[in-house]
Amino acid sequence: MNATVDRLKAIVGPGAWVTDPEALQPHLTEWRGRLHGSASVMLLPKNTAEVAEILRVCASTRTAVVPQGGNTGMCGGAIPDESGTQVIVNLRRMNRIRQVDALNFSLVADAGCVLADVQAAAREVGRMFPLSLGGEGSCQIGGNLATNAGGINVLRYGTARDLTLGVEVVLADGTIWDGIRTLRKNTAGYDLKQLFIGSEGTLGIITGVAVKLFPDPGHIRTAFLALATAQQAIELLAEFRTRLPESVQAFELISKRALSYVARHIPDVRLPLDDGYPWYVLLDVAIPDQSDALERLLQAAIDRGMVTDAVLAKNVAEAEQLWRVRHSISEAEKREGRGIKHDIAVPIGRMPEFLVEASRRLTVQVPEAIPVVFGHVGDGNLHYNAHLPAALQGAEFDRLALRVTTVIYELVQEVGGSISAEHGIGVFKRDALAQYSDPAELQLMRTLKQALDPANILNPGKVI
Ligand code: FAD
Ligand code: MLT
Ligand code: ZN
Repeated sequence: MNATVDRLKAIVGPGAWVTDPEALQPHLTEWRGRLHGSASVMLLPKNTAEVAEILRVCASTRTAVVPQGGNTGMCGGAIPDESGTQVIVNLRRMNRIRQVDALNFSLVADAGCVLADVQAAAREVGRMFPLSLGGEGSCQIGGNLATNAGGINVLRYGTARDLTLGVEVVLADGTIWDGIRTLRKNTAGYDLKQLFIGSEGTLGIITGVAVKLFPDPGHIRTAFLALATAQQAIELLAEFRTRLPESVQAFELISKRALSYVARHIPDVRLPLDDGYPWYVLLDVAIPDQSDALERLLQAAIDRGMVTDAVLAKNVAEAEQLWRVRHSISEAEKREGRGIKHDIAVPIGRMPEFLVEASRRLTVQVPEAIPVVFGHVGDGNLHYNAHLPAALQGAEFDRLALRVTTVIYELVQEVGGSISAEHGIGVFKRDALAQYSDPAELQLMRTLKQALDPANILNPGKVI
């Protein structure tokens, strides 16, 4: 093992590897502290050729490799196992924007670019890269593709998968596949890039990306609404989409409890409305500056009793304050204590029924569970999370947590949903994927893994 580590260190050179336990620590722990691993070394390659050389050595020595971006993932996929034999390949030094083409509405970047830097590079040429999520100041574009990240603008622009034009990938044997294309149409054979998007580091290491840019949407209006029921949120969304076609950029649902956690744990965030309403919606619409269409739609909704109260941001700073509330929920949940996370997709029309039934079943089957619901309702993607009383620890916590998850996933199956809408599988949902997937689908996944990584050195133990 030591000889292999020495060869790997020599590839990246001095200053580009880490073995010091203290410096390694943040890379061995999932950001909520739910998973701890060990590694023989963390390598920080500076270019694709070095990644290829690393994988050639790892393939010949059967050394397992864990690709890592910003380590903001939700499923433990970027954390090595406890054996101490795995090697982390962290992409953070590969952070160059390679090309921005305003006329072609495309951008090419190293996979280690931080998402916020990709957004900024697009803005510099008057374009927009719409992928946006709470961890955007730390997560990397390669990690976003590897998890097929979603976030708040999927409703209008799609997920990372929809935003990708091409990828550059290093395969398990060290082969570099240069799939960087900035074409809108390409039917020359299989669409191989899609194999790597959402593969969570198990099929190859993404080293470069080509993504779509969009026109700057112009003036964005942001509103924070209070509602009596989730059904009203779904109906309101349909109405907004009909009356303001192609304008709704984001439409997020927040439950009373999720908002109260923000109030309790994030002191510098001011709540725009009292936290006593059952549900809230935070929305962005792109409409011209002078238009009063949003005001008129909201007033009509209030008059019909569909919306109970509303706050409209008067300027960009106020809009950012409203979004801070939404983006603080994950951190607030973490401070509340150990939670149970779900990242489910359900058909949007069945969401109200799902919410009522999930609550009913939990009350009966796991009365200790405290649901914390929020999410990207416009995409049918709910974070149907839950907490358990703090006194429950260890095996007792695990037992009840599994029961909560089983209740939720069984209901997800019944309504034709998915157990993972945007966070992926990693380690935390690996058993659930096996349990809830169609057997033929699982076998296809195994066949692909076997074909692309026969020695199982790429992120072993993750996804399947
Ligand atoms: P990591 O966490 O480092 O890795 C994630 C997985 O991808 C691992 O399996 C890893 O092995 C693999 N990987 C990383 N880089 C590469 C690469 N270059 N090549 C191959 N494999 C690689 N996600 C959403 O979808 N929507 C949200 O709204 C959202 N909100 C979030 C809010 C907060 C506050 C936080 C902390 C996270 C949120 N996330 C959200 C999670 C999101 O999936 C990740 O933040 C992000 O997409 C992962 O990027 P990363 O660089 O941190 O990857
Ligand atoms: C978010 O949308 O904020 C995250 O994806 C959800 C989470 O932390 O569960
Ligand atoms: Zn989310």
